[in-house]
Amino acid sequence: MIQSESGLESGMLSIQSNIVKLPEPRLDSSISVEQALLDRRSMRSYKNQPLTIAEVGQLLWAAQGITEKSRGFRTAPSAGATFPFEVYLIAGNVTGLSAGIYQYDYHHHRLMLRREGDFRAKLSESALGQSSITNGAINIVLAGIYKRTTQRYGDRGIRYVHIEAGHIAQNVFLQAVALGLGSVPIGAFNDNKVQKALDLPKNEIPLYILPVGKIHQK
Ligand SMILES: Cc1cc2nc3c(=O)[nH]c(=O)nc-3n(C[C@H](O)[C@H](O)[C@H](O)COP(=O)(O)O)c2cc1C
Repeated sequence: MIQSESGLESGMLSIQSNIVKLPEPRLDSSISVEQALLDRRSMRSYKNQPLTIAEVGQLLWAAQGITEKSRGFRTAPSAGATFPFEVYLIAGNVTGLSAGIYQYDYHHHRLMLRREGDFRAKLSESALGQSSITNGAINIVLAGIYKRTTQRYGDRGIRYVHIEAGHIAQNVFLQAVALGLGSVPIGAFNDNKVQKALDLPKNEIPLYILPVGKIHQK
């Protein structure tokens, strides 16, 4: 059930390469930045409806998409262009995409499957049982690799990594508004438990969980 670069098999999406090419992001919208800022609100309850792969791709692009190919610069600023973040998609309810943990490959705007299965409940358990994580069709997890930034800036790099998490998250929130979706920042969780639940490499520290889902009509 996974859409793959390696081709389609009789209409079914192939799982062979564990790579999922994402649709090209849209670069326009009918909603202004000002309206998105006005409308953004933390939402913790969502409809039990799937997101599309286009919506997922758009949210990931907003998080860390490449916007200047020659230098690899992205949608969010980064101290000294050290880019300390890896971005994970915890997919639960996405049309045409198997539930699983995927890493966003920003260089190629595609997903790399890391583990199959629905990890939302496990992730929620690692975050005081917060229901927004299980309700959300997806969760985006920002994992920081401090060394990328501290090797250039020393201890001050720690501050820069945390600031950068905010930039990335706000991009996701505003993009969610533009797509008519709801989201919430989740900072209350046990780092070790999240790292274990998602089987993250030791040097990748989870700093933010961003559930996203379809919202109930206002
Ligand atoms: C760093 C940070 C951590 C947060 N952690 C959580 C959280 O764990 N769970 C939650 O439901 N909301 C969390 N929030 C959301 C805040 O509760 C929310 O932003 C605040 O109530 C203001 O509402 P607004 O986002 O709608 O403007 C967090 C917000 C920030 C900035």
